[in-house]
Amino acid sequence: MAQRRDIDALISAMTLQEKASLCSGRDFWTTQNVDAHGIPAVMLTDGPHGLRKQQGASDHIGLNESVPATCFPPAAALASTWDPVLLNRIGVALGEECRQENVAVLLGPGINMKRSPLCGRNFEYFSEDPVQAGELGAALIAGIQSQGVGTSVKHFAANNQETDRLRVSAEVDERTLREIYLAAFERVVTGSAPWTVMCSYNRINGTYASEDPWLLTSILREEWGFAGVVVSDWGAVNERVPGLLAGLDLEMPGSGGATDAEIVAAVRAGTLDESVLDTAVARILQLLERVRPGIEAGGRYDSAGHHELAREAAGQSVVLLKNDRSALPLDPSTVGSLAVIGAFAKAPRYQGAGSSQVTPTRLEHALAGLRRLAAGVEVSYAAGFSIDDEADDPALVAEAVAAATAAERVVLFLGLPARYESEGFDRTDLDLPANQLNLLRAIVDTGRDVVVVLANGGVVSLEPWHDSVAAIVEGWLGGQAGGGAIADVLFGVVNPSGKLAETIPFALADTPSHVNFPGERGKVRYGEGVFIGYRWYDMLGRDVRYPFGHGLSYTTFSYRDLVVRAVNADAGQVEVRCTVTNTGAVAGSEVVQLYVGDPESTVRRPVRELKAFAKVSLDPGASETVVLTLAGRDFSFYDVRLGGWKREGGVFILEVGASSRDIRLSGAIELPDDGATVPLDHGSTLGEWLAHPVGGDLLRSRVFASLNGDAESLSAEIMQMLASMPLTRFSRFPGVDLTAAALTALLAEANA
Ligand code: BGC
Repeated sequence: MAQRRDIDALISAMTLQEKASLCSGRDFWTTQNVDAHGIPAVMLTDGPHGLRKQQGASDHIGLNESVPATCFPPAAALASTWDPVLLNRIGVALGEECRQENVAVLLGPGINMKRSPLCGRNFEYFSEDPVQAGELGAALIAGIQSQGVGTSVKHFAANNQETDRLRVSAEVDERTLREIYLAAFERVVTGSAPWTVMCSYNRINGTYASEDPWLLTSILREEWGFAGVVVSDWGAVNERVPGLLAGLDLEMPGSGGATDAEIVAAVRAGTLDESVLDTAVARILQLLERVRPGIEAGGRYDSAGHHELAREAAGQSVVLLKNDRSALPLDPSTVGSLAVIGAFAKAPRYQGAGSSQVTPTRLEHALAGLRRLAAGVEVSYAAGFSIDDEADDPALVAEAVAAATAAERVVLFLGLPARYESEGFDRTDLDLPANQLNLLRAIVDTGRDVVVVLANGGVVSLEPWHDSVAAIVEGWLGGQAGGGAIADVLFGVVNPSGKLAETIPFALADTPSHVNFPGERGKVRYGEGVFIGYRWYDMLGRDVRYPFGHGLSYTTFSYRDLVVRAVNADAGQVEVRCTVTNTGAVAGSEVVQLYVGDPESTVRRPVRELKAFAKVSLDPGASETVVLTLAGRDFSFYDVRLGGWKREGGVFILEVGASSRDIRLSGAIELPDDGATVPLDHGSTLGEWLAHPVGGDLLRSRVFASLNGDAESLSAEIMQMLASMPLTRFSRFPGVDLTAAALTALLAEANA
């Protein structure tokens, strides 16, 4: 990277207009070049589960063609792998593709929380949990950037729906933002230092993310230490000069110079300090220096190798939700005939729609994969329904019923057609299309054991048909090699190990954001607060169809020997170990999940929260000791009064599970209070004074001791009643010897 000195010298040599021009794009996908100073234009483009590089007509919603690139499974699928090592490898592959195509920055990953299953972009977001989304996002970013290609983690922040996405104000309290909606970004920024961050379209509590100094400067840069470029989502700039002041460096796409002129005018008018512009320009020039070696080196990627990696990833993403009577895996030596039903078996839905839409280098469908693996098995196929509409087609249904009746085993491919979920709009229900549900009923009525394979980005309802089928395989959107990967799982070539990153509810009305999603009149209230996803269902004790973290395997695992040990109790550093054994007959992988709960707290906290996880691969009979470590933050909540994180002393519950509702081992640890104290003020109550480490003694010795009668007469019941009374009011009561001046002095002493 060029020395800071060089950048400073360059900036001094540039005119005001030249500097302003660098702060917005030249066109849809490239930054502005300044030839007089040898500053090149570089390309930023989507993904992120593949490269969407357009050479002809440009757009940001996936309309026009892009060059072929490996279409890996999108984030909803990758999240189900719970495998940062795999995500890192995919990141490396994406970086290689960017290098070949001269792309400087890949626009992703999107790590927004899945607040509602209805969000149209859930297919390209990871999880309903910030630790999981943050860990996986950080791994992908590290892989991409290891190739000298930048990333743009997005959409910062609180962009959890598509409805009215360019204007809606997410009304979220600060604790919820810190603990949930900013937490994954914090993990990624502090863990993998993305070279750019993309601010979102929406407003947060009334202020556009693109012009929010609290978000883009105080939190992102000052608290988290982000040193890169903040880029706008495409068209997210509301007003350019306030945006620049707030910390938005690069506006994309370009505005044809209109907003550059606003910057120049503001500097000339004295309303924008030129040093603010210089700071943004310096960051952009640093980015150009960072991406230069990768662009100069170029490279060619191994298309066949990347396809294989995409297939491995798709296989690892599959979540086996249900497998009654060991319906799966299919054994070609015992299955004589197999009916493959459902149009998706031949016309796979393998990615989402919108800006992330990739033109794949190849495309596999499951039917071909099944036929390849089903040596000696007679495989028939019937579409059963049309993907293009919801109308029942009696001829297709009859053909499918005949195929099912004639076969020993039935695999039924169902899912959401592309028009159901996309960037730009949200779903309004969780149901599969009516024609697919009708077909499902007809196939079940044949009396065959039915295996359902699903293709969808966001979760779909499994009601009311769940109990009528033998097995359910959640294949998500599997990318270009997803078809082969499904065949691998169905025949047991791959033992499924995916686990849900999103709860599957019984009903939409059960979901945490239901009464507020997607808001109205320009606002969406995050009324459920920190109780997103499983945090909500656990708090309410509500049943779900499949919980966060759930996923079956063709083998089984046992958990034993939990050891919880404080490494440094004062700092809240804790080590958790347990031994996991593969107790079945085939090799498999298990995702070990560690949840933390704080049963006694001064704020309302979730019953359990995921804080760490590990994936282990074990041969039959093999065991491995899993070691997970926790830090002080993992026990803390965000205390808005402190303006910081707070770990209250006491006993914390540690649960190790195979899902959030399949807790196998449970332990506890007592940790001391971290000592962070909210200062007392004139509004503090007697209860708060008494709980304060210094104020409590002062109150007792200086105020209670001088009461008429004796302080002992303040019985426990009376104290309970008085606890909520501010000391300021109490001080004015007859008989209380505490002047206003003395109270102010007492406050100073308590807070000293
Ligand atoms: C999307 C971004 C995307 C950008 C560029 C926007 O509509 O929200 O995720 O990176 O377009 O295509």
